[in-house]
Amino acid sequence: MSSAVASESGAEKAFYLTTPIYYVNDAPHIGHAYTTTAGDVLTRWHRQRGEKVWFLTGVDEHGTKVQRAADAGGVTPQQWVDNLVENEWLPVLQTVDAANDDFIRTTEPRHAERVQRFWEQVREHGFVYSAPYEGPYCVGCEEFKFAADLAPGTGEYEGQQICPVHGRPCEQLQEENWFFQLSAFTERLIAHYEANPEAIQPRSAYNEVMSFIRGGLADISMSRSSVSWGIPVPWEPSQVIYVWFDALLNYATAVGYGTDPSSPEGEQYANTWPADVHLVGKDILRFHAVYWPAMLMAAGAPLPRKVFAHGWLLVGGEKMSKSKLTGIAPSQIIDHFGSDAFRYYFLRAIAFGQDGSFSWEDMSARYTSELANGLGNLASRATAMVGRYCEGILPAATADGEAERALQELLVSTAANADAAMVALDFSTGITAVKEFIEAVNGYVTEQEPWVLAKDPANRARLETVLYTICESLRAVAVLYNPLMPKKMQE
Ligand code: MSP
Repeated sequence: MSSAVASESGAEKAFYLTTPIYYVNDAPHIGHAYTTTAGDVLTRWHRQRGEKVWFLTGVDEHGTKVQRAADAGGVTPQQWVDNLVENEWLPVLQTVDAANDDFIRTTEPRHAERVQRFWEQVREHGFVYSAPYEGPYCVGCEEFKFAADLAPGTGEYEGQQICPVHGRPCEQLQEENWFFQLSAFTERLIAHYEANPEAIQPRSAYNEVMSFIRGGLADISMSRSSVSWGIPVPWEPSQVIYVWFDALLNYATAVGYGTDPSSPEGEQYANTWPADVHLVGKDILRFHAVYWPAMLMAAGAPLPRKVFAHGWLLVGGEKMSKSKLTGIAPSQIIDHFGSDAFRYYFLRAIAFGQDGSFSWEDMSARYTSELANGLGNLASRATAMVGRYCEGILPAATADGEAERALQELLVSTAANADAAMVALDFSTGITAVKEFIEAVNGYVTEQEPWVLAKDPANRARLETVLYTICESLRAVAVLYNPLMPKKMQE
């Protein structure tokens, strides 16, 4: 089933998936863990298909937001990020059981050097110029805002324009910056996305991006002169590179962009880039589907194959966030339910691409009905019966009938349907397919009544066939659910 393709060097190109790199102004909440979990499930799925896979995640350490958090904490920005990365962001990967291949920090020299090389290249290509910037900037978003991005404020902000994501007015900037000539890429981006409509998903995200680009792209600051916490602009080190134009590059720098092609890093770049999937939340779609490909075009590098924008985890109808004090730490849920149930719940209960709300009641109800009663019960009944009737040794199936054949056929279609859904990032449909197979196996147990068969030695062959069929079905479920719930499925 492998969809592996050879890279230019002849080696198999890795299926390369990235999560956004998370701001380390604060500790992670389940909104962050959601993206990482989805990426982990998808990459485990592709690995299990026999593909070579590279899964990158990491942290975004520069910018005003992080600088201010450090200032408020009375430490240097470097101390602030070192502490949070060590004590919060790396541990959360263990908490959610992520099997990432690399973890990039934007303060690492490998990143900073390659970012500088990238912008030198863009400048040499003639897409950078110096000009004054004046306009609104949202520090929460770390974004230069356009009038169309803002909304009228209410309550204490009545009469002012606010950032709709952060619910507060922007800061007014006035600085002498370096600009990236984004406007030069309007037509090329439109042509690219018309030719590759699958490059932005879901469809609603594609439409949003296309209408933004068709509205015409304005040039955008690529540096900040009033910020010091960042990567110096190589040709004017008194300024730093605008945090997003540093951060987006992590996807390429982490796999060796800008290194000697004959070095190990250069070979990795050839076998990994471009990314197959950038997973992002819908709030950062424009950066990934407009600015990022334009930057790559300007540098002459290949474009990512797909950006998938997922929805938000909501609290009281609003995006869960630490700044609004609505963040739930992943461990609050995982300490109680375990990492497998956490992974299962968020990918099963929320259609990937849409917003969803977390509630303890819903989590608890699905845990009981789908995991404990549906799957857990089946597994414990099966092992108990093999123990009781067959001394713990799984018998062979020698008397297959109609019911067994039906289950076998259902398994074949379940595996195909789950695979098609998972590789399309339709996790909920993929999981539901497996869940329905489990229900069918439970139905089979009820119909076949192995405990009745066990009463009469004349039924021995049927009893063994039924027990074998149940266990073989469970083995298949363990494989299909392994990327989703690796701990329990190993058990
Ligand atoms: N640092 C930037 C990303 C740079 S990528 C080159 C950033 N960081 S973030 O920490 O604010 O957000 C990272 C990701 O977490 C985004 O995809 C964002 O959508 C996601 N989430 C943050 N809160 C979320 C929810 N409440 N729900 C779902 N995802 C959320 O943006």
